[in-house]
Amino acid sequence: MEPKSCTWLEGHLFSCLLFLIFLCHPTFAAVKTYQFDIQVKNVSRLCNSKPIVTVNGLFPGPTIYVRDGDQLLVNVTNHAQYNMSIHWHGLKQFRNGWADGPAYITQCPIKTGNNYVYNITITGQRGTLWWHAHILWLRATVYGAIVIMPKQGTQFPFPQPYLEQTLILGEWWNQDVETLVNQGNKLGLPPPPSDAHTINGKPGPLFPCSDKNTYALEVEQGKTYLLRIINAALNDELFFAIAGHNMTVVEIDAVYTKPFITNAILIAPGQTTNVLVTADQAPNRYFIGARAFMDAPVTVDNKTAAAILQYKGVPNTVLPIFPQLPAQNNTDFALSYNGKLKSLNTPQYPANVPLTIDRHLFYTIGLGINACTTCQNGTQLTASLNNVTFVMPKIGLLQAHYFNTPGVYRTDFPDKPQTTFNYTGAPLTANLGTSLGTRLSKLAFNSTVELVLQDTNLLTVESHPFHLHGFNFFVVGSGIGNFDAKKDPAKFNLVDPPERNTIGVPTGGWAAIRFRADNPGVWFMHCHLELHTMWGLKMAFVVENGKSIEQSVLPPPADLPTC
Ligand SMILES: *[C@@H]1O[C@H](CO)[C@@H](O)[C@H](O)[C@H]1NC(C)=O
Ligand SMILES: *[C@@H]1O[C@H](CO)[C@@H](O)[C@H](O)[C@H]1NC(C)=O
Ligand SMILES: *[C@@H]1O[C@H](CO)[C@@H](O)[C@H](O)[C@H]1NC(C)=O
Ligand SMILES: *[C@@H]1O[C@H](CO)[C@@H](O)[C@H](O)[C@H]1NC(C)=O
Ligand SMILES: *[C@@H]1O[C@H](CO)[C@@H](O)[C@H](O)[C@H]1NC(C)=O
Ligand SMILES: *[C@@H]1O[C@H](CO)[C@@H](O)[C@H](O)[C@H]1NC(C)=O
Ligand SMILES: *[C@@H]1O[C@H](CO)[C@@H](O)[C@H](O)[C@H]1NC(C)=O
Ligand SMILES: *[C@@H]1O[C@H](CO)[C@@H](O)[C@H](O)[C@H]1NC(C)=O
Ligand SMILES: *[C@@H]1O[C@H](CO)[C@@H](O)[C@H](O)[C@H]1NC(C)=O
Ligand SMILES: *[C@@H]1O[C@H](CO)[C@@H](O)[C@H](O)[C@H]1NC(C)=O
Ligand SMILES: *[C@@H]1O[C@H](CO)[C@@H](O)[C@H](O)[C@H]1NC(C)=O
Repeated sequence: MEPKSCTWLEGHLFSCLLFLIFLCHPTFAAVKTYQFDIQVKNVSRLCNSKPIVTVNGLFPGPTIYVRDGDQLLVNVTNHAQYNMSIHWHGLKQFRNGWADGPAYITQCPIKTGNNYVYNITITGQRGTLWWHAHILWLRATVYGAIVIMPKQGTQFPFPQPYLEQTLILGEWWNQDVETLVNQGNKLGLPPPPSDAHTINGKPGPLFPCSDKNTYALEVEQGKTYLLRIINAALNDELFFAIAGHNMTVVEIDAVYTKPFITNAILIAPGQTTNVLVTADQAPNRYFIGARAFMDAPVTVDNKTAAAILQYKGVPNTVLPIFPQLPAQNNTDFALSYNGKLKSLNTPQYPANVPLTIDRHLFYTIGLGINACTTCQNGTQLTASLNNVTFVMPKIGLLQAHYFNTPGVYRTDFPDKPQTTFNYTGAPLTANLGTSLGTRLSKLAFNSTVELVLQDTNLLTVESHPFHLHGFNFFVVGSGIGNFDAKKDPAKFNLVDPPERNTIGVPTGGWAAIRFRADNPGVWFMHCHLELHTMWGLKMAFVVENGKSIEQSVLPPPADLPTC
């Protein structure tokens, strides 16, 4: 060995070793930065599509890759004509609602020409989540995936896949969505259903002008793939299946589940599902399909989005085989599928279900009709929780809470409905009006909460996917009909219930969730059907500070937008 290289090695060995230790150390955390430029672009999908609002001109927007423990900085710069805010759906944002994103709840919107840096610490989370606009209906096109890898050196609790791929399901309108929504609101009616469902932004070959817009996933015979599936649709719960292939569900809403095999999944807007798929069938082209689940008398976009699972070497001229998706009104499949979801609940991934409850809440979900002087018939469709239609404030609720600004909200959101009735009995057409208010529910720091969400037949029964910001919760029970406070709790699963951030309350039924209010701040809870959110099917919790600084809301960042 020449003395020269020996010296070189001696000189670099130490720093090289340090670098390796740095890289391989399990607690190594990085700062990941992303630039999000909100821009209007023409990314036509069907015939004569109008330009859309995008992030960096991409549709879907960029995927964020982070690792548990990382610091994520996203500089959102708004070049569009609309006010903007971005929600990081499912990230817990401990003490840091400033980075949560829902407009007028945790921040004022980012105005045209302005920017805001979302500063997010990823703590104790890994899996598939997503981000989306949280103002107006802009999330129709402003959305993307978040992939959180486990800490270095930590394996998945299932066989390592050969490759992984995100599949984001969405809805596409040919017309400008904000224009359609404004037209509907003027009349007091819903905007028209979407023109297509999409997979990774593409409707697939069942739609006109979309031949080039089919997403294809090439697979190798015998290999196993991890699919990270996200429902970014505005208003539709979706069935998803791959022709000829079973899937093994291993994770929901970034929480590992007990694996189970299924030929189709059900995924509500806001939810994510990770599945393993093995390319173990005859080499061919297989359609991947997504179509709405709707078991209430409500009009939905009933069209099927299609992508292709294509075995390597099979030419594009081979016609793909179609999957058997459950029928649009297949309630039995939906209930049976949701019943199979269970937390992994191992020592490494425990299900810390609150067993004693400090606060019992019971919220009815109602649709309704209120007077509207500017609407065509003098009425508008509306929605409410415990008969309260939430009125959006003019400034961010978190700011109002932090700075004790009076007159912005009240903390008297009712713990239970004012009047009890046969919630899911015959269609209720009396009392369809609702009361309006910016009313929040105050929760003591670290208290345990049980919330029963009860659908009603006010106007019509319907399934409602509820999303809680700032927390995961355990879905300890659900059922059809009216919740029975005497009999139903005895049937709760307090051992390995699914842990998630969005729960589909069944049509004409109820769901019971439990969580520990250990994250101080103001946290939005709402139906993740954009139509219903807009109509007022939303409220917020104010979780009080604990005794110490470490149990209190962080100070706001210097660049927090103002109203
Ligand atoms: C967008 O693209 C479509 C299809 O390529 C085209 O017909 C349309 O004129 C374009 N619109 C704009 C505003 O560029
Ligand atoms: C955010 O982006 C804007 C526009 O590109 C830029 O002017 C600003 O310096 C960026 N801020 C940070 C903190 O990177
Ligand atoms: C982001 O937040 C962390 C934790 O509060 C803080 O240490 C860091 O300085 C912040 N970074 C920026 C760029 O604001
Ligand atoms: C899918 O799983 C079911 C139940 O485990 C099984 O009966 C069926 O043969 C499987 N189908 C395929 C294509 O593997
Ligand atoms: C889908 O909905 C449209 C419009 O409501 C209706 O005309 C059509 O028959 C429906 N198709 C199926 C397969 O249900
Ligand atoms: C589901 O829809 C089909 C076709 O529209 C209908 O024949 C069937 O009765 C419906 N099933 C239920 C349970 O409503
Ligand atoms: C107005 O009411 C009439 C009669 O009930 C109904 O046919 C029509 O669809 C309504 N229009 C709107 C915009 O609500
Ligand atoms: C509620 O309504 C349903 C359907 O009309 C009926 O079967 C049930 O007995 C009612 N329950 C009560 C407690 O009245
Ligand atoms: C809801 O509130 C409105 C307005 O106060 C009232 O007219 C209606 O009877 C209430 N409905 C129910 C179901 O409580
Ligand atoms: C919350 O309460 C639980 C149970 O009493 C306790 O173990 C935990 O340390 C508390 N957390 C905080 C942040 O005070
Ligand atoms: C944008 O937000 C600001 C602050 O809330 C508001 O004053 C303004 O009217 C909004 N602009 C638009 C175009 O909605």
